[in-house]
Amino acid sequence: MTIKRLDHIAIVVQNLEAALGFYRDALGMALTHVETIPEQDVKIGFLPCGDSELELLEPINPDSGIGRYLAKRGEGLHHICLEVDDIEQALADLKSKDAALIDETPRRGAHGRVAFLHPKAAHGVLIELVERR
Ligand code: CO
Repeated sequence: MTIKRLDHIAIVVQNLEAALGFYRDALGMALTHVETIPEQDVKIGFLPCGDSELELLEPINPDSGIGRYLAKRGEGLHHICLEVDDIEQALADLKSKDAALIDETPRRGAHGRVAFLHPKAAHGVLIELVERR
């Protein structure tokens, strides 16, 4: 398995417009686009940062997993995403090393196939792997 780069950092927010008041207007980062992904119950604002990007996630359904996460934990870091060259190989390697996985097989994400690792595998951080298409 090869980790190619830090793909994105995802931050959960109450309100995307309000969060842009800091990330776009105060920090001066560019917002390239906003996308609502109903299957993931989120509206996402994408802010590129060099070779990576920040994703601001606003839950659109309070009864979804991410909606409940926000209600329980409040705003803040949700996950980091690492790009891998071969996601099947990465999952097989991690399984053989007894790392706790949320997804045993890849699922379809916004940029390619993705899989989530359990935060207990990564010392408290939810990690997403992506194989970009
Ligand atoms: Co992500």
